Amino acid sequence: MIKRIFKAVLFDLDGVLADSAMEHFKAWKKLADDLGIAFDIDINERLKGVSRMASLDILLEKASRSYTNAEKIQLADRKNGYYRTIIEQLSPDALLPGARDALLACRDMGLQTALASASRNAPTLIERLQISDLIDYIADAGAARHSKPAPDIFLMAAKGVSCDPQACLALDDAKAGVQSAKAAGCFVIGVGDRETLDEADAIIPNIAAFRPADYCR
Ligand code: G6P
Ligand code: MG
Repeated sequence: MIKRIFKAVLFDLDGVLADSAMEHFKAWKKLADDLGIAFDIDINERLKGVSRMASLDILLEKASRSYTNAEKIQLADRKNGYYRTIIEQLSPDALLPGARDALLACRDMGLQTALASASRNAPTLIERLQISDLIDYIADAGAARHSKPAPDIFLMAAKGVSCDPQACLALDDAKAGVQSAKAAGCFVIGVGDRETLDEADAIIPNIAAFRPADYCR
């Protein structure tokens, strides 16, 4: 691995630092059950990194009728209510193994840290996980004009820590997230399997395998 000078690390949240991809799944599944729509873990894979409304559109592909925009907003709100009920009960136990150490390793190396999550619930989740003090900036998903795979959220995160995207390592577990960070110009580490995340510059199986020193000069 060729080492470069990096100044910041931009983290996706759900599925990278937090075990919350499953919590999103549970909330979507509850909504799908309410509506009598088939929904499983394979369909959920397509929702990773995707915004709330775009996720709803994917879930509704299997619906037997169409929904108006007003109805869709209500359904997305209902899912968000389910999700918030779940995450309000979370503790630091919901951090993925190695997540806290990864953030501490960034601190030790003098790297800035930022969140580039598509989730508008990221600030709440960070509080619940008790890692706010280890994150220098949280990009506001609600302010991104275009969601992942567009580069907006990673560009905002880099800007938030006053770094060129080229000087940032980015970690994401979703195809759309890897594409987003690549489009922003970051060095992208896919967290998961090589097949899904083939566009990443490097792959690690999970956050416990992230060592910033492997990439930084
Ligand atoms: C992340 C998750 C997605 C989720 C999206 C929006 O990217 O991977 O599954 O749909 O955030 O989350 P929100 O909390 O704003 O509904
Ligand atoms: Mg993710």
